[in-house]
Amino acid sequence: MNSLMEVVGSLLVLTLSTLLLPGAYSASITIKNNCPFTIWPGALSGASTAQLSSTGFELASQASQTIDVPEKWSGRFWGRRQCSNANGKFVCGNGDCGSGQVACNGAGGAPPVSLAEFTLSGFGSQDFYDVSLVDGYNLPVSIAPQKGGCQSTICPKDVNTVCPQELALKGSDGGIIGCKSACMALNQPQYCCSGAFNTPDKCPPTNYSKIFKDQCPQAYSYAYDDKTSTFTCPAGGNYVVTFCP
Ligand SMILES: *[C@@H]1O[C@H](CO)[C@@H](O)[C@H](O)[C@H]1NC(C)=O
Repeated sequence: MNSLMEVVGSLLVLTLSTLLLPGAYSASITIKNNCPFTIWPGALSGASTAQLSSTGFELASQASQTIDVPEKWSGRFWGRRQCSNANGKFVCGNGDCGSGQVACNGAGGAPPVSLAEFTLSGFGSQDFYDVSLVDGYNLPVSIAPQKGGCQSTICPKDVNTVCPQELALKGSDGGIIGCKSACMALNQPQYCCSGAFNTPDKCPPTNYSKIFKDQCPQAYSYAYDDKTSTFTCPAGGNYVVTFCP
């Protein structure tokens, strides 16, 4: 009788603590900069999800920062490059979010940017994550789930080094700092999976999307590249996003 009361009691405490501590099952995402230069990661929550406590910050080479994310959350991270203050406004050569500040405050990054995308579904469900080059590429990036048995996904190569001239974004020093998607650069329906090409069977890979896929086989190279590019893990675990892994 006594032990039954104890079990009921501890169940009650467990239930109460779950109800009273909304962060009880929240996860964290650590952003790490392995690039040999400073980057300024940006974070954007999906529609109808609150912005995270940090929406943009500076990360020196080899530095990392951990951000708490709600149990149910969707959103994306990207790395901004060549940022500086110009006349009191913070601007980036690539991935700029237009806020004029280091924080992006709910704005996304200007493409081309490599994206680390998440849909965290909440305790007892599945998380989804992917690396996307659908909006172009700027940095190699990986997502490593910290839960055992879950697969990492990585875009390991520097696509900028094989970027065709017509897709290239040049930095202030004249070097290529980003590779635009063919959709963005050429704006044709076969590259954007729009118009007559707006279903998966009508929008196959193109000579341009194949350049991205060859370098980064696990990343989305165009809109309907789902089969090889989406990864899942039981919800509730933490993740590490590494730029220049
Ligand atoms: C891709 O194909 C288009 C159409 O055939 C052609 O104009 C373009 O030069 C090709 N680009 C590359 C990088 O192969």
